[in-house]
Amino acid sequence: MPSRSLPLNAVKHFEMCGQQLVAFRGGSGVVHVLSAYCPHLGANLGIGGHVVTESGDDCIQCPFHGWRFGGDGQCKRIPNLNGVFISSDPDHYPEDFLAKYGHNLSFRFYYSRHMDSNFEVVGENCGDLEHFARLHGSVVPYLTTTKFSFDTTRSADNEIAGFATIYVLGFKLITQPWKLWFGSPVMVHHKLGYDNSLLGPVLGVLNAVPLHHGQTRLTTMIYSKPTILHRLWAIFYFYLLNIQADADMEVWVNTQKLKRPIFTRNDDLIQLYRRYCQRFYAK
Ligand code: FES
Ligand SMILES: [Fe+2]
Repeated sequence: MPSRSLPLNAVKHFEMCGQQLVAFRGGSGVVHVLSAYCPHLGANLGIGGHVVTESGDDCIQCPFHGWRFGGDGQCKRIPNLNGVFISSDPDHYPEDFLAKYGHNLSFRFYYSRHMDSNFEVVGENCGDLEHFARLHGSVVPYLTTTKFSFDTTRSADNEIAGFATIYVLGFKLITQPWKLWFGSPVMVHHKLGYDNSLLGPVLGVLNAVPLHHGQTRLTTMIYSKPTILHRLWAIFYFYLLNIQADADMEVWVNTQKLKRPIFTRNDDLIQLYRRYCQRFYAK
C-alpha cells in the first residue's frame, strides 16, 4: 500500500507477512503502522477505529472501549479509569427471573441470527460496562439516545443491574431499571422496567449456542404482559436489543481473543465473568 493512498485522519487495515496491521495518518501528516489488534480485549483498530489527538500526538482510538494509542504503540489514554468499581458478592445468588415472573408474562418475540465469532463474547459483553456508552448510546440516530448507569451495590458474580435513561432530541424521556443475570456461559436473562408498572417488566432470554469454533447462533426470546402498553414496550425493547446486537457484532467479528489481555479496574466484571464461567468447564 503506497503511503500516499492514506489521506489525513484516515485509518486502513491491511495484512502483511501473516500479520494483521493498521496504518493511520494523523494531523502531523506522519503515517504510523501498528498491530491491528488492541492489547486490551483484541478489537481490530483498523475496522471502526479512528484518528484522534491526545496531548498533541497523533493517536488511533479503539472502537470498542476507546483506548488511545500513539504512533509508537504506547497507550496514551484509557477512558474512565477512575470510574465505577463494582463490588461483588460471590456467595449471593440472585432471583430466577423466569420462575418469578413467567406466569404473568407471555411470549412476544423471537430472533435468531448467525454470528462469525465465538459464543463467549456474548456473555462477556454483558459485563463489559465500559463499552455501553461507546457502542450502545444511539437508538435512532440524531433523534433518540440511551445512557446507561450501573448499580454499584447490588451486583453479584452473575448479576448486573442499573438504569437506562432514554433521551429524545436531547430531552430526558424516561429512566427505567434493567438487570442481567447469567444462567450459564451460554444463557443470559435480562429484564427492563419496574415490576408491576405500566411498562414493565419486559424479560428476555438470550442464548449463544456454539456451532463450531468461531461460529455461534444467537437467539433471543422476549416476554411481556398482554396490555397494549406492555406490548409496545416489548416492541421497543426488542428493537433496542437488535440494534445493540448489530453494533456489538461489528466489533466481535473482527476481534481476536488475546491470551494475555490488559485488564484495568474498569474490567472488574469481565474478569469476574471469566471466573464465573470456569466452574462450567472441566479442569
Ligand atoms: S479499548 Fe480496544 S478492545 Fe478495549
Ligand atoms: Fe454490547
